[in-house]
Amino acid sequence: MLSQLPEQPTDKILDLMRMYRADARTSKIDLGVGVYKDASGHTPVMRAVKAAEKQLWEEETSKSYVALTGDPAFCDAMATLVLDDCVPRSTVATCATPGGTGAVRQAFDLVLLANPSARVFVSDPTWPNHLSILRHLGIETIAYRYFDTETGAVDFNGMLADLDALRPGDVVLLHGCCHNPTGANLTLPEWQAVIKVMNAKGAIPMIDIAYQGFGDGLEEDAAGTRLVAKSCDEVLIAASCSKNFGIYRERTGITMVVCQDDAQKALTQSNLSHLNRQTYSFPPDHGARLVSMVLNDASLRADWQSELEDVRKGMLSLREQLAGELQRLTGSDRFGFIAQHRGMFSRLGLSPQVVESLRTDHGIYMVGDSRINVAGLTADTIPILAKAIVETGG
Ligand code: LMR
Repeated sequence: MLSQLPEQPTDKILDLMRMYRADARTSKIDLGVGVYKDASGHTPVMRAVKAAEKQLWEEETSKSYVALTGDPAFCDAMATLVLDDCVPRSTVATCATPGGTGAVRQAFDLVLLANPSARVFVSDPTWPNHLSILRHLGIETIAYRYFDTETGAVDFNGMLADLDALRPGDVVLLHGCCHNPTGANLTLPEWQAVIKVMNAKGAIPMIDIAYQGFGDGLEEDAAGTRLVAKSCDEVLIAASCSKNFGIYRERTGITMVVCQDDAQKALTQSNLSHLNRQTYSFPPDHGARLVSMVLNDASLRADWQSELEDVRKGMLSLREQLAGELQRLTGSDRFGFIAQHRGMFSRLGLSPQVVESLRTDHGIYMVGDSRINVAGLTADTIPILAKAIVETGG
């Protein structure tokens, strides 16, 4: 039987991680996978998370199951973090999931249960695993233009033109903030225009928000999602705690569904419970508990927000330094978009040959489409990267 298994395509981000680990050069630079690193190249446990972990170790008396859709305290805290009070909490169905990927998967599975013929419109480009999960589920995808490779900005006219092909019941996958892989994001008026199209066409928005707090701030980064939530009847949301709480390996995420009324919410909630039970039964609790402890304790929360702000500002500063260095070396503003982009990633617009040469000749690892993880840079490596880009003709 097993010999009948199909070969599976590998994931280009995880491939890159493997290649980086196998590279013996001490000068190598990792700008691949989206994991935050501080100036010493370390991915720290955030202070408030560590404090919550200590408290949990003291106080937790049982490891028995919690609830099929996760601890209600976690679900409430996350619904408030992402949505604030833009819609009544009573209309939001929620289920805790293993990481943001689990949240995306449950949301797409829910789409499949509700409307097996739904098509999902995805930005070109998008996170490769979105496409992979959709392919795995057999859901048809339609790409909409998103990124202007010439300017490094959103190709908004192209996006609107492509969304014109939406049919009632189609799903539009949007990145809540810090678009992965490009770093180019919609403005609020653009969100508003997209909402108008989706509502006119009878399409359902699905928002993947995995980097809240990494772009312009916790509230600012949720503004697009909140606008959609209060303007559309039904909204699917997948949120991740991996990055903004730095709890990658704890696998903590949540699927949220904004529903039209109580009856629809009850039906959606029971479907989310069903999906959790079929897929992995009870979701992991440790990371979720840390998140709710941090969000519900004023002093832990203040410390978390302050550390998150430092992380965000550090990435902004790295962006400015890289854009400045490239400006100095090339004498042009061609890479000025790096300072305008937000979040962890920027797509530099380099050719696959240049990306390959940066890796083989300079030990600089970025995803094949020239996406860099800005947090992988330091003040010391920025001049090295900029010089290598210029030398390789990037
Ligand atoms: C990334 O895009 O690098 C992250 O979201 C990590 C992952 O799982 O791909």
